Amino acid sequence: MTEIKASTGPKYARIYSVGSATPSRVIDNEFLLQYIDSSDEWITQRTGIKERRWVAEGENIETLAMEAASKAIERAGIDRAEIGAVILSTISHYHQTPALAPKLAYQLGIPDAAAYDISAACAGFCYGLAQAEAIVRAGQATYVLLIAGEVISEITNLEDRGTAFLFGDGAGAVIVGPSETNGIGPVVWGSDGGQEGVIWQTADWHTAVETGVFPKLGMDGRAVFKWATSFIARATKKCLDDAGLTPDQLDVFIPHQANDRITDTLLRYLKLPETVVVARTIRQLGNNSAATVPMAMDALLSSGEASSGQTALIIGFGAGLVYAGQVITLP
Ligand code: ACO
Repeated sequence: MTEIKASTGPKYARIYSVGSATPSRVIDNEFLLQYIDSSDEWITQRTGIKERRWVAEGENIETLAMEAASKAIERAGIDRAEIGAVILSTISHYHQTPALAPKLAYQLGIPDAAAYDISAACAGFCYGLAQAEAIVRAGQATYVLLIAGEVISEITNLEDRGTAFLFGDGAGAVIVGPSETNGIGPVVWGSDGGQEGVIWQTADWHTAVETGVFPKLGMDGRAVFKWATSFIARATKKCLDDAGLTPDQLDVFIPHQANDRITDTLLRYLKLPETVVVARTIRQLGNNSAATVPMAMDALLSSGEASSGQTALIIGFGAGLVYAGQVITLP
């Protein structure tokens, strides 16, 4: 048999930098009351959300992704010509083809990078991080730019009392590259297509063309809540176990920002020490789907609540159903 040379890479990978972008329009709970029978008190008490950011005129998935990616590249202090792959995680780029990642790579001045989009809803950043880490360690690219960007406001049904208040727009990006020590733990990920009907799109694109009705997101909130506080709690614990860590070795916890009450339940299950810094960006940003984890990471680092070199547990979960999480060293 002819021997084919295999690619080889560095033993470890880590996150070099993070950047994020939030759109300019602040939408408070009061604004939504013109569409749904609800109250600021109910939304705050049930979810933790006080406000979220939605795109304004001139802002879109592309502008948000470009801003977050540019910040991440600049902060990494690397030569962008060494970025060999660009991954965009999104469920809100409305072209079946081409993917948006090649255009972003071109506009960022890295035109020859491998570039593609992935779709894993709110788990999208952690799915992408697993790929980026594997790409770097296999020697397929020196650096990977991973972007997660969402404009969920456009697929939000403003008249749906169960979802109208949940989502916000935004983007986050990281540079992943080679490392002397390990900065990204084993991914714990999976899916349950048996629950595909728990979070859904109200119509496919074909039907949308026929009816002229743009599809929106639908969700069985109670089912998601139940799954997140039982199965996902165990998966989150497995991220720690697989990384060989105990709760007291953790500095920061960045769970997907789906609901503050889900975060509270995860905290109780994991028995994390009170010293662990917990992301609560949902209060100002809502649920940003794939972009949630990197946006929260950037917010905690920028505010000084978390610092570079600390150990963080991240996990995303959402439509599919899908989930992914890992322990990381903060950039
Ligand atoms: N305002 C006021 N009252 C409301 C509203 C509202 N917007 N919506 C429902 N209610 C009422 C209901 O009528 C019900 O009243 P009743 O008890 O008198 O019958 C009561 O509140 C409870 O209704 P539930 O539907 O059970 O509300 P719940 O407590 O489950 O909260 C929520 C809803 C916030 C959506 C919650 O289920 C949740 O956060 N789920 C998880 C969301 C999530 O994580 N999504 C995943 C990401 S999506 C993605 O992947 C793209």
